[in-house]
Amino acid sequence: MLSAAEVIQLNKEKTLTSWMAQGGWNPIPIERAEGIYMYAADGKRYIDWSSQLVNVNLGHSHPRVVKAIQEQAAKLCYVSPSYATEPRGELGDLLSQVTPGNLSKAFFTNGGTDAIENAMKIARLYTGRQKILTRYRSYHGATFAAMTAGGDPRRLGNEPGVPWIVRLPDPYAYRNPVYRGRTQEEGDLIIAEQIEEIVEMEGPGECAAIMVEGYSGSSGIIQPSALYFKRLREICDKYGILLIVDEVMSGFGRTGEWFGIDHYPEVQPDIMALAKGITSGYVPLGAAVVSEPIAAFFDDHTLIAGLTYSAHPLACAAGAETIQVYRDENLIDRSRELGKVLRKGLVDLAEKHPVIGDVRGTGLHQVIELVKNRETREPMSPFNKPMTDPMKAASAALKEKGLQTMLRWNMIFSTPPLIITEEQLQEGLDILDSVLTAMDQHYEG
Ligand SMILES: Cc1ncc(COP(=O)(O)O)c(C=O)c1O
Repeated sequence: MLSAAEVIQLNKEKTLTSWMAQGGWNPIPIERAEGIYMYAADGKRYIDWSSQLVNVNLGHSHPRVVKAIQEQAAKLCYVSPSYATEPRGELGDLLSQVTPGNLSKAFFTNGGTDAIENAMKIARLYTGRQKILTRYRSYHGATFAAMTAGGDPRRLGNEPGVPWIVRLPDPYAYRNPVYRGRTQEEGDLIIAEQIEEIVEMEGPGECAAIMVEGYSGSSGIIQPSALYFKRLREICDKYGILLIVDEVMSGFGRTGEWFGIDHYPEVQPDIMALAKGITSGYVPLGAAVVSEPIAAFFDDHTLIAGLTYSAHPLACAAGAETIQVYRDENLIDRSRELGKVLRKGLVDLAEKHPVIGDVRGTGLHQVIELVKNRETREPMSPFNKPMTDPMKAASAALKEKGLQTMLRWNMIFSTPPLIITEEQLQEGLDILDSVLTAMDQHYEG
């Protein structure tokens, strides 16, 4: 067995990591994880306050999913996607039960990015149109076209990317000047008008789909009102454009509904992209789920798409069991209820700590935005620049105190596993509290 130091050394010397210059990578060697906790090689325990990359919704090592994977592995690890298997059929059926509207058939992928790639491809094949319209503050994955689709700065090293993405303004009430002196809904209506104008300018006959996250995720949980989604659906219907909803992060109970878009029951997607919580991250899996008319179209049109690992039996078995666990343990309702506890905790922190400028999100999917001054809203660390102190120091302090979570620029995310208890939520909030106390000294109000 390797020592912790050897594990780190081999990882650094022989593998590449994501989203950073390799020299700055100082990984913690993780040995095991259970429930909301993960354990480093030196025995140190961390609360997983982000569910890793907002995917480990069931917490770590859920025994039912582990068993389902083991049993499937003993029977059949892999066959090509041209065969039928029980877990594939079962998962397809479960997805058609839990997804909204007339979403009826799933094309399985390896993760979220290729769910998005295939969703965009299907929309282009079905409509015969080219352009996909997406929000600036969104993330849709990291292959070439998916990376262009997300408007978030993560795309910038990949520019100009594919030529058929058009970007839309964001319903960002806290920072978009459109919202100054207006309510969220008033501002959203203006943004929707701008979107319709962009469609007109781009040529409606060129626009295959508008693609948005069902509930905004890592770009800052920047979520509009129901009115915005209603207008988006109306614009799509008026011009024959499809609505693709990316539920890769917001799906499977994260926001207190099965899917983020379920907060707006009158709005139904034509295509939904899924991944992450579909297996709680235990085996890589994604899906592009399509409506009945789109599914029928492909009865006599070739679906020009394919992946060696599409509908992988191990992944499908993990997915089917994961969905049963969400149901049997009432985790969707639990996320909604515990989300209220989390919100109250964050609002209490905002009363105590002036550095908290905004609290956003719902369910177990929330974020605080930290500012130097509540009047000017100057961010505690600038947008799209390497993180500066005191955010950088806060990030280190959270880790040191045993809380691992997602931070971006001036934002701290709270997206714990849906199985977290109220006491464990409090444990995390107490750590946040102590770190925010240190940050208050840097408030300039
Ligand atoms: C909303 C959204 N879409 C797509 C993706 C890409 O998924 P993956 O990293 O599984 O390829 C992500 C990943 O974070 C995401 O948050």
